[in-house]
Amino acid sequence: MNRTLSFILLTACIGLLAGEASAQNNVIRPKEVWPDTDGNHIQAHGGGIIRIGKKYYWYGEQRRQGLDPEYRYVSCYSSKDLVNWKFMGDALKMKDPDSIGRTWVLERPKVFYNAKTRKYVMYMHLDGPRGGGSGYLYARVGVAVSDKPTGPFEYIRSFRPLGHESRDIGQFIDDDGTAYLIFEDRPNGFHIARLSEDYLDVEKDMCLLKAPIEGGAIVHYKGLYYVLGSALTGWSPNPNKYATAKSLEGPWSEFRDVAPPETRTYGSQSTMLLKVAGRKDTTVIFMGDVWKPKTQWDSRYLWMPVEIGDGRLWLPEPKPWTINVKTGEHKVVGKNPL
Ligand code: DGJ
Repeated sequence: MNRTLSFILLTACIGLLAGEASAQNNVIRPKEVWPDTDGNHIQAHGGGIIRIGKKYYWYGEQRRQGLDPEYRYVSCYSSKDLVNWKFMGDALKMKDPDSIGRTWVLERPKVFYNAKTRKYVMYMHLDGPRGGGSGYLYARVGVAVSDKPTGPFEYIRSFRPLGHESRDIGQFIDDDGTAYLIFEDRPNGFHIARLSEDYLDVEKDMCLLKAPIEGGAIVHYKGLYYVLGSALTGWSPNPNKYATAKSLEGPWSEFRDVAPPETRTYGSQSTMLLKVAGRKDTTVIFMGDVWKPKTQWDSRYLWMPVEIGDGRLWLPEPKPWTINVKTGEHKVVGKNPL
């Protein structure tokens, strides 16, 4: 190879590597536009995350502009580092499955992987008024199943878990692998319920917290369960609160603020607490939605590592930060202009 050709090839390789490096991002910026690996703002609202091997899958409400109004969509993204997310397509695209009516809603989808049946099982909040208008009267969960994490998920049925009304749902997988659905049952409170062996049903109420809490999330950290949720204020943020217990059955402590109440959880609403246990440390991430009800496609995410331990859970002021999923360590790396 002559010298000029080698020089051109070398320059091209360096250029490619530099391009690759600049496409990779390692900073999570709470409340800012969060581009996926194609440069589009991530659409996974009211979402949940599972880890399969080395990959994380993030499912949520797909709310990009230009969707067919007859359908509701659940998006799926994958990542190895929790920062760079590749859009894997809409894992579920579905028409009104139960003749709820034109304004039916599908919210807060959560996916569980059942290692015994090798099925991915999606729970979703199905709601709407019967016969038009607006309202959340149907109050059910829907279940859909897929052989692959990315779908397509096939809708199976809807039901009221253990006979109760169910609106916001959350997911919790304990350290022993047991899967739980958290659901808000307005007349009564907030349930933490175990799924059946095949995950296709909700089998056992572990406890009913008599508190008006939605956006439910749980983490098991150093022998204590922390449950977190928001008040019932629609799309408007409010001071989210948490309680603790040694067992899911309770007794649970009183609910306490997770952030200075005047910040209204820094304008966000809880959707999940994600535990990243690495070689050196464990980081628990508060995953929240910053809703923009009139421009839902622009709704943002507030992800921030929490201060946790000895019965205290605290969401610090949001700032850009990094995480290393292998070591489990995180680092705040700047000030947040928002
Ligand atoms: C609050 C819930 O947390 C959201 O998921 C959504 O259902 C809004 N209410 C609708 O007002």
